[in-house]
Amino acid sequence: MMRDDVAAQIMVDKCLVCHEVGRILLERKSRKGWEDCVVDMRVLARQKFHKDWFSGEEFRLIVDLLVRTQGS
Ligand code: HEC
Repeated sequence: MMRDDVAAQIMVDKCLVCHEVGRILLERKSRKGWEDCVVDMRVLARQKFHKDWFSGEEFRLIVDLLVRTQGS
């Protein structure tokens, strides 16, 4: 599978549990902005699900995809 497909699947599994994809696709951010955002989401997910929601590797794949498709 392509890297992007893997990252997209991770986003479907890990991001869309809490909000619609439109909420994410609206935003454009710098790499730093996306990193901060996904860190915030990790914290929210830990509060809600009481466990680590994505691994460091998944974090990196998600941020890379977001920067490429929705960078500012
Ligand atoms: C535990 C639930 C949860 C998960 C999982 C989650 N989010 Fe969120 N997200 C929220 C909440 C709550 C808000 C704040 C309410 C709002 O603005 O809709 C939010 C807001 C956002 C925003 C708008 C605010 C901003 O900083 O621009 C973006 C973009 C976003 N999330 C992206 C993501 C991405 C990408 C993922 C996956 C890596 C993700 N979310 C996973 C709950 C979650």
